[in-house]
Amino acid sequence: MSPDHYKRAVGEAAALLVQDGMTVGLGTGSTAAFLVEALGARVRAEGLKLRCVPTSVATDVQARACGLPIVDLNEAGEIDLTIDGADEIGPGLALIKGGGGALLREKLVWEASRRCVAIADAGKVVETLGRFALPVEVVAFGHVSTARRMGHALAAAGVSVEPRLRMRDGATFITNGGDVIYDLACETIADPHALAGVLKTLTGVVEHGLFLGLADEALVGDEGGVRTLKP
Ligand code: A5P
Repeated sequence: MSPDHYKRAVGEAAALLVQDGMTVGLGTGSTAAFLVEALGARVRAEGLKLRCVPTSVATDVQARACGLPIVDLNEAGEIDLTIDGADEIGPGLALIKGGGGALLREKLVWEASRRCVAIADAGKVVETLGRFALPVEVVAFGHVSTARRMGHALAAAGVSVEPRLRMRDGATFITNGGDVIYDLACETIADPHALAGVLKTLTGVVEHGLFLGLADEALVGDEGGVRTLKP
């Protein structure tokens, strides 16, 4: 079985967590796309009344195409349940997210939610975060200067890594918010909270992809089926 098979399995399992009348945060990425598809099928078959808050333009487009009613985060109030993919799932359900570049909107939606569920193929569960390069969203204006300061601040904190500007198809990758992304190939993140703290102090850094203490559970899929992990 391929990772896509497990992504579909967790996406479909997560869609069953949604109940009539809920306001639901919809994640971004290939795993979340299976959730959106399955939720659309439930809405059509069962007539569920939902309000959905997408975490990216791509998810917005897919959700509308699947017949899901969309509401802006400003009008949504508190979100009942957000379901979203992850790039790495570490101890205590500390996550790395942002491989698709949607980390800022994702974190805004997660933080507005009563309950957050990460969904992933089990290959993303790790003992130590960091093998997946940590995405950091940076204001486009002066981003090279910000990246230089970021490198110095990280070195001073004992993290030796060169921030790498994300490119796509030969051009600088631009987020839905008009920012750029620098990826930090840390290999091992010994202290995620300390790293998050350093990144948060830097002017020009908008957000980082460490989601710490935000996931209430994770659904992970492998050949044994779908398992629920708790922090
Ligand atoms: C989007 O920016 C990310 O946070 C995704 O949720 C994450 O990269 C997982 O994506 P896949 O489900 O495509 O692996």
